[in-house]
Amino acid sequence: MKIIIIGGGYVGLVSAVCFANMGHQVTCVEQNESKCMALQKQHIPFYEPELLERFVDVHTNGNLHIQSAISPENFESDVIMLAVGTPMAPSGEADCSDLFNAVTSILTLAKQHATRPFILSTKSTVPVGTGRHIMSMVASANLERPVHVASNPEFLREGSAVHDFFHPDRIIIGTEDVAVFRTFQQLYKGLHTESRPIVHATLETAELSKYAANTFLATKISFINELALLCDKVGADIKQTAKLMGMDGRIGKYFLNPSPGYGGSCFPKDTHALQFIGASNGINLKVVSGAIHANNHQIDHCFLQLMALCLVPPTTVTILGTAFKPNTDDVRESAALKLIDRLLAANIRVQFSDPKAIQTTKAVYGDRIHAHESPYDAAKNSDAIVLATEWNDYRHLDLTRLHAKMKSPNFVDLRLIYSHEELSIAGFNAYILGKGMHHNTTISPPTDIETIQQSA
Ligand SMILES: NC(=O)c1ccc[n+]([C@@H]2O[C@H](COP(=O)([O-])OP(=O)(O)OC[C@H]3O[C@@H](n4cnc5c(N)ncnc54)[C@H](O)[C@@H]3O)[C@@H](O)[C@H]2O)c1
Repeated sequence: MKIIIIGGGYVGLVSAVCFANMGHQVTCVEQNESKCMALQKQHIPFYEPELLERFVDVHTNGNLHIQSAISPENFESDVIMLAVGTPMAPSGEADCSDLFNAVTSILTLAKQHATRPFILSTKSTVPVGTGRHIMSMVASANLERPVHVASNPEFLREGSAVHDFFHPDRIIIGTEDVAVFRTFQQLYKGLHTESRPIVHATLETAELSKYAANTFLATKISFINELALLCDKVGADIKQTAKLMGMDGRIGKYFLNPSPGYGGSCFPKDTHALQFIGASNGINLKVVSGAIHANNHQIDHCFLQLMALCLVPPTTVTILGTAFKPNTDDVRESAALKLIDRLLAANIRVQFSDPKAIQTTKAVYGDRIHAHESPYDAAKNSDAIVLATEWNDYRHLDLTRLHAKMKSPNFVDLRLIYSHEELSIAGFNAYILGKGMHHNTTISPPTDIETIQQSA
């Protein structure tokens, strides 16, 4: 089949490459000139495992074309998919201006050049009602050939996007038209099976299902993160508590890893967007608001624990991991960056390392923080290390070597990689999220967190 994908970001490019890998003829349209030129030179402007090899393969064999704008020939296609960004507006709602601008351009060109019907589908995460709105735009455009509107939300995760594309838990197609659904069955042929079904839904259900899934996962994270705070107080072990919860088949083991909070380009904006959709329809989604509130609070707790761990106020802190999760260079809404903001506001020097996100982090902070390729260099003369992202590279650190580099031996593990025992053997005072604080020294730590809160 012939497909056009509008947007060459994480979702658009991964989808374009994977559809081309499946044998479809794909054109990916990326309007940002520098990104488009980079892609045409087979350079991917972000890091995603497995993507580059596959991209080079399909771009070289001609299954994938990169363009900076949609062209008249593109209207020979069966499906046009919209994979542009839908970021959070200041009100919390999803900003769909890029999406609607793209629809307007497509319909304007289609009026002159479409010689056959085509499907116009959202792949972006869009508010309930977007598909209906696109249908009204199509109706107003008064085209000679029918344009069928569909919703095909994407569930891939950065860091494992290619794998996720080829192993979807389900493929959702929102459409009123059975023939449109059949076209998508053909498009995804080979990916859907009995255990990974392709599901026909209404436009509204398809749109809501994406927000529902992301917000539920974010809520699960906020729940376990709040329990981690409780574990700190009552002496229970959060890792084991989460494991025991996850053994219950009704709950499931995923998304129960305590953390400094969820981040990335999806969960923060999608939780807010769902809250906004609820409010616009007169429904106060209190669980969603609770998940957002807990997530905003989580980094404050981590910052206070760091300050409490350091018996002398730190002047330099090392952050290990700035990407919002491992296997990506994406730092959007990363908890590590929220922590860096607090440290800089407190006039604390920040040194950092990340296996892939040094450039993206520097793009945010410039010279205000200090980058090092090696975690050991980043630890030099530091008063505390904060392990903020659970890269595999940080699972087997030489703790004694790190300790030797530092000015003061404080270690904050926000990803529960290390045990108090091993950190203590290496000579560290340590705070492990959900496992409390252990000092190696004979000096008593301050225990009253409210006092620290006031002085911080
Ligand atoms: N990133 C993820 O992990 C993920 C997962 C599932 C769903 N989503 C959703 O997918 C959508 C895209 O997300 P993303 O992370 O790929 O965004 P992104 O910001 O990485 O990429 C969007 C791209 O679209 C381009 N663009 C905008 N308007 C255009 C136009 N008219 N023509 C051509 N290109 C245009 C932008 O230049 C940008 O490169 C969002 O709605 C997001 O919520 C993202």
